[in-house]
Amino acid sequence: MPQPWWKSAVVYQVYPRSFRDTDGDGVGDLEGIRRGLPHLQWLGVDALWLSPIYKSPMADFGYDVADHCDVDPAFGTLADMDRLIAEAHDRGLRVLLDWVANHTSDQHPWFQASRSSRDHPMRDWYVWRDRPNNWVAAIGDGPAWTFDPATDQHYLHLFLPQQPDLNWANPQVQQAMHDTLRFWLDRGVDGFRADVIHLIGKDPALPDDPPHLVGTSRVGRHDEPRTHELLRGIRAVLDSYPGERMMVGEVNLDAHERIARYYGRGDQLHLAFDFVPLYAAWDAAVWRGVVADVERVFGAADAWPTWVLSNHDQPRHRSRYGGGEARARAAAVLLLTLRGTPFLYAGEELGLTDAEIPPGRAVDPGGRDGCRAPLPWEPGPAHGWASPDPWLPWPPCAEERNVATLRARPDSILHLYRRLLAARRASPALSLGSLEMLDTPAGVLGYVRAAGDHRRTVLVNFHDEPADAPLAGDHVVEVASDGAGEGGPYGGRLAPTQGVVLRPA
Ligand code: NOJ
Repeated sequence: MPQPWWKSAVVYQVYPRSFRDTDGDGVGDLEGIRRGLPHLQWLGVDALWLSPIYKSPMADFGYDVADHCDVDPAFGTLADMDRLIAEAHDRGLRVLLDWVANHTSDQHPWFQASRSSRDHPMRDWYVWRDRPNNWVAAIGDGPAWTFDPATDQHYLHLFLPQQPDLNWANPQVQQAMHDTLRFWLDRGVDGFRADVIHLIGKDPALPDDPPHLVGTSRVGRHDEPRTHELLRGIRAVLDSYPGERMMVGEVNLDAHERIARYYGRGDQLHLAFDFVPLYAAWDAAVWRGVVADVERVFGAADAWPTWVLSNHDQPRHRSRYGGGEARARAAAVLLLTLRGTPFLYAGEELGLTDAEIPPGRAVDPGGRDGCRAPLPWEPGPAHGWASPDPWLPWPPCAEERNVATLRARPDSILHLYRRLLAARRASPALSLGSLEMLDTPAGVLGYVRAAGDHRRTVLVNFHDEPADAPLAGDHVVEVASDGAGEGGPYGGRLAPTQGVVLRPA
């Protein structure tokens, strides 16, 4: 049976400010993304997700949207966006946009209207109260409420005060937000990554958090039944378009069971991020538990899993794991062979670590600058950017860790990503097959992916020493994280921190 594209796809996340600058202002732009498309095509991903490109005062670097239907001048124009979508499609790449639905910028005309008077017809588009409850905001740990003296009430913001929460209980808000989806679907985008989508439904009573939770952000635990009904409405908009438009939602909850519910019965999100693996330590036993849990829970819910190791909100996994590039390579084997849709974060294919941010250069109120460092394309002072001095410092070792230099070295991590992506694309077992855990020695994670007669076995040695991991039957090394012995027989022993993809001999 043919499967929807987003099940076998690998998605590449672009953080537009940091991808590539072509106009010399030190901030990446849509033209830079367009010029990067040949790299993504060569690498072998299927889709790109752009973090927000909309008009924004940039209090949260685009996650504060002032106009959902226009491009911020720092990034370009709607015409640039049309060109980018068209050229991506010509190259066989799908395009997903970030859709920020829980809140807008305080500069959005909707909020300006809402705050202008208590009688304004749009007052109820946001959440206004005489008395705030005890919720705190996710960035900054201050109250989730700001007092607006003009109308003598407080408005709710689960993030920055510059990001007031929309009131999704209001049907006009639902319609207006559906229209923003249609605006981009009409322009040809293939879908959306929906920002903190689990937050949109709220109990209108806005009950206080219980005492033991006071002072902690709701973002990691807000799980409100009303959201599911809203998601069904959103899904209906996507389903009214041809071509399997999809939505992957950020559901920032801490349990697989809770996350899996946001798929509904195939009538809510197509995919939901699961950040449990993102927070998991580099430890075979921990990962064995994570993979087994995901298989069990998502399998029972008939929900297709996602896998993410890095994004624009967390230290890069290479920095988190420590252990140098070898771990980043072994992690790539995991990420690209587990059952589900993997999401790569721009720069992980270069093995980047986080940038050191000197105190005077910090710009994000949430302290996430390190993983948002600009992507180096070439050696030399400007690294392929139109300005040698971008908005954030370059990541470490950019003279070697850049696209051009690593592309010229067949033994680089960049080529490893490319080989893994090619192996995945060529193998129905790796892209869509079942997953069965293997009994492996401590320190080694192993599983078999199978689809009909196709089989691939994956072994990852989490230890920094060699490990014996014999298998029944003869196998050929298809991909090795260190490139060793590819095309030759598997001898039953893994090198330190080595990951391998094996095919039956
Ligand atoms: C999650 C996004 O990934 C993050 O960057 C942003 O700050 C918050 N949502 C608020 O939009």
